[in-house]
Amino acid sequence: MFKGLFQTTKSPVKQEKLQFDTSDLDMNNIPKHIAIIMDGNGRWAKAQGKVRTYGHQRGAETLKKIVRAANDLGVKVISAYAFSTENWKRPITEVNFIMDLLSRYLTSEIQEFNDNNVQVRFLGSRAGLPQIVQEKMDNAIRQTQNNTGIILNLAINYGGQAEILHAVQSIAQEVYEGKLDVSSINNKVFEEHLYTQGLPAPDLLIRPGGDLRISNFLLWQIAYAEIWTTKTYWPDFTPDHLVEAILAYQGRERRYGGLVTK
Ligand code: IPE
Ligand code: IPE
Ligand code: MG
Repeated sequence: MFKGLFQTTKSPVKQEKLQFDTSDLDMNNIPKHIAIIMDGNGRWAKAQGKVRTYGHQRGAETLKKIVRAANDLGVKVISAYAFSTENWKRPITEVNFIMDLLSRYLTSEIQEFNDNNVQVRFLGSRAGLPQIVQEKMDNAIRQTQNNTGIILNLAINYGGQAEILHAVQSIAQEVYEGKLDVSSINNKVFEEHLYTQGLPAPDLLIRPGGDLRISNFLLWQIAYAEIWTTKTYWPDFTPDHLVEAILAYQGRERRYGGLVTK
């Protein structure tokens, strides 16, 4: 089913169709999977003299633009961190606003997803999410499952440690039931138990907002991701920043612990 992800990227898009400058990019070396920690919404809003929640609202609009741009560039998968397992620690009013925003986003964007051939999936645990959000998630999956363009993984109630524990528990259960031998547990088996099952690991991890940390995102999967950060807050992040990040990625030498022979 995911075979296409591992094939070479589609023929390069024509620059004149795009709203941003891609002339320096190598269209044959576009990262297949980009992970984004969408950070800085609250600080962005504060800097405008607005309440933090306004930043979340604007952040949702940024995601729409970035998914469109990534799709145009031939990126196959975007994993966007929307709400972490630790974000429940925030004031209830902010948490409720984000849940409501997610629910509205997953309603209003269905048309946009279908117009742009975007397939929506989710990373994270359903447990604890409001019923309405879970229904909108199911609906978004159902309505976009036949789309063949970019895959948008929305990480909601997601934590990398929780994901690893979840995988360990389901593997242990299979061993207990005699369906799996301990000696056959390897990377491939482990990855089949992660939320990102069947998808390639992120090539590029982008963090706006200026903080230099992972904040519990895709801990297993980013083992060899190239990291790119910017002080720009997520609501101000543009397709030009995406191009800048990909350009930086294209300048990196990925060695995976080995040596590059020149
Ligand atoms: C990221 O922006 C969105 C979520 C974590 C839900 P923040 O809300 O963390 O914004 P800052 O980092 O406080 O500015
Ligand atoms: C990471 O941002 C989570 C999301 C962007 C959803 P946080 O704002 O929660 O991370 P910390 O607290 O700065 O590490
Ligand atoms: Mg933050």
